[in-house]
Amino acid sequence: MKKFCLFIFCLLSILFLKAQQTFQQDQKMNKFIKDLMSKMTLDEKIGQLNLVTPGGAVTGSVVSKDVDAKIRNGQVGGIFGINGPDQIRQAQDIAVKNSRLHIPLFFGLDVIHGHRTIFPIPLGLSCSWDIPMIQQSAHIAATEAAADGLNWVYSPMVDIARDPRWGRIAEGSGEDPYLGSQIAAAMVRGYQGNDLTANNTVMACVKHYALYGAAEAGRDYNTVDMSRIKMMQYYLPPYKAAVDAGVGSVMSSFNEVDGIPATANHFLLTEVLRNQWGFKGFVVSDYTSVSEMINHGTGDLQTVSAQALKAGLDMDMVAEGFLTTLKKSLQEGKVTQKDIDDACRRVLEAKYKMGLFDDAYRHDDTQCAATSILTDSNRLAARQFAEHSFVLLKNSNNILPLKKSGTIALIGPLADNQRNMLGTWNIRGQYNEDVTVIQGIKNIAGSDVNVLYAKGSNISDDSMLVTNINNFAKQIDVDSRTPQQMIDEAVATANKADVVVACLGEAADMTGEASSMSDIRLQQCQRNLLQALLSTGKPVVVVLFNGRPMILGWENKNVNAMLDVWFPGTEAGNAIADVLFGSYNPSGKLSTTFPQNVGQIPIYYNHKNTGRPLNPGDGHKFKSDYLDVTNEPLYPFGYGLSYTSFTFSDPVLSKTTISGTEGLTATVTVSNTGNYDGEEVVQLYLHDKVASITPPVKELKGFQKIFLKKGETKQVVFNINHSDLMFYGKDLQLVAEPGEFEVMTGPNSRDVRMTTFTLK
Ligand code: NOJ
Repeated sequence: MKKFCLFIFCLLSILFLKAQQTFQQDQKMNKFIKDLMSKMTLDEKIGQLNLVTPGGAVTGSVVSKDVDAKIRNGQVGGIFGINGPDQIRQAQDIAVKNSRLHIPLFFGLDVIHGHRTIFPIPLGLSCSWDIPMIQQSAHIAATEAAADGLNWVYSPMVDIARDPRWGRIAEGSGEDPYLGSQIAAAMVRGYQGNDLTANNTVMACVKHYALYGAAEAGRDYNTVDMSRIKMMQYYLPPYKAAVDAGVGSVMSSFNEVDGIPATANHFLLTEVLRNQWGFKGFVVSDYTSVSEMINHGTGDLQTVSAQALKAGLDMDMVAEGFLTTLKKSLQEGKVTQKDIDDACRRVLEAKYKMGLFDDAYRHDDTQCAATSILTDSNRLAARQFAEHSFVLLKNSNNILPLKKSGTIALIGPLADNQRNMLGTWNIRGQYNEDVTVIQGIKNIAGSDVNVLYAKGSNISDDSMLVTNINNFAKQIDVDSRTPQQMIDEAVATANKADVVVACLGEAADMTGEASSMSDIRLQQCQRNLLQALLSTGKPVVVVLFNGRPMILGWENKNVNAMLDVWFPGTEAGNAIADVLFGSYNPSGKLSTTFPQNVGQIPIYYNHKNTGRPLNPGDGHKFKSDYLDVTNEPLYPFGYGLSYTSFTFSDPVLSKTTISGTEGLTATVTVSNTGNYDGEEVVQLYLHDKVASITPPVKELKGFQKIFLKKGETKQVVFNINHSDLMFYGKDLQLVAEPGEFEVMTGPNSRDVRMTTFTLK
């Protein structure tokens, strides 16, 4: 008892001292910023709200002009899109040496999945379900970005997406709010660390707030209309998790939400973000999303800029609506001095917290860049992260792992393709540093393996698609041979081999921004190639490159094995070869549902039951289903195979009845019953059987990634807390209602075992 009291006393003292320290630091900051702002003119205050590019187009039209002069005149708060410490230093020099008040600039960039060492695309990383690893990926990215002079990154992107036609599904963590929230928080911790003034951390910017992933028909920038309960329950949690983890900035999204563009949406930017969640940082718009409100139809530039500021937007990315109209709006009483001051203060506070007033060049050191970027250890990490992100979709007769002997025919447009290994967003990544599949296989296979190669087809023969992709970046190399000549060569090559490894899929920019697709099958020329390869009778392993779930029913039925490698990054080929030859046993699990056909979209595991669910054994008539396809996806959320096999016990609960805010545990026994050591992601889902808001059929509430040696058995214990039983009720408050709950555990969202408990 005495010891316990002492412990509590120490704990309270530490908390008190910490609170006192924070209070003193805040007071110091407040005084500094108050003094600074008292010297600022109105124009200089508005200048801090202006974010520019160095004068080129980044992800939209070129707007930023006369950038150096603007910095000198105090009309710029930050720049993004500058490459390298030297140029950054030059721009910072103008701000801190030549502007009247010497206020330093932010330097931002889209560092999305690695900076120079590129990791798998975020959708791929999310399939690792490995939260410490994802945090580490952000930490390495921060170290490289900071060494390159940057202090601000536009990541994590946490938009929940249920529509694989939407190209930007590649940039996020899939469809689930629980998994997405864990990843969002981990990335913020990885980028920001514990100290934003350290020289290996950068300020994160969670985006795109909010609901960008729910664009109608999966078409980029499209309209979003959603009930508040749905947004609170399924779409907003990852943004909130980033805020709870202390993210320094938030980016508003391009889309409208319920008729009001997100960039001027008071409900989102002020009521939810600041008032409910207590966000203390600043909000930046997306690229020209202020001026795009003119197209949305909510007013001219002056009107929309005032709307945005009043709604809670602090910084205008590129549109210069704030810069050119806020003064007039103040004179006309459309915004107040306080509106401008609040936004300016938030921007300055962020600079203060980053230590930029003490050392504006903290992140800018050419020597550091030379020694911290693309190091051997970062490349090794990229290789390991990639291996953990791959999802084994099919492996009949254990054709994988491949033997290190015999002849392998490596076929396909992505087998020897350095240009397309990195995926979307790799601004500083350089594709000529990537390891291709053929290189990787040769590095790993050893001299007993004879590797033959044929391209077999282009990534696409669709001229509209090829033009749209290649106009931006030449990623689809159109061969001078006819499709038939390429197929003939591929078939002749396959005929000489023991096994065919077909590297198929998308070009890097077939997903990402402005890369929505209405047909998400493999391109016709690749399907023709695959059909020809299958007709040789040789076993065919597909290595699939993709930034989205694809329609793969035919492939799933006909090929022997399929490994989804997403876009693996700098170390692509080595990581793929490691997995194909079994140096690493795949453990990835899908973070998005793969539909059977495009007509099933949106399809997601945490759907509602409807009043007419199709239960097993039911006839079709008058049920919620389709005439021409079943309701099941091709691969469910959480799915992914291993070279070994695992068995799961039923979940065993510590209690079958709980009351008040009591919790309970669920224990599952998992055994590795196959022939390889391996990792398994043990998943826990809950279903509230009766509730005042119609509940989803199941929701992920926990997962643990465990390693089991061949023959080993482990018990996995999940805590189920009161908060796990809560949902957003009619008044948008979280509630847990008494009644029966189903607890489901298993290796994916479909193959679960179930038990129940009651909340009194
Ligand atoms: C537009 C994109 O939507 C956003 O994700 C990105 O951070 C900005 N452009 C800046 O490049």
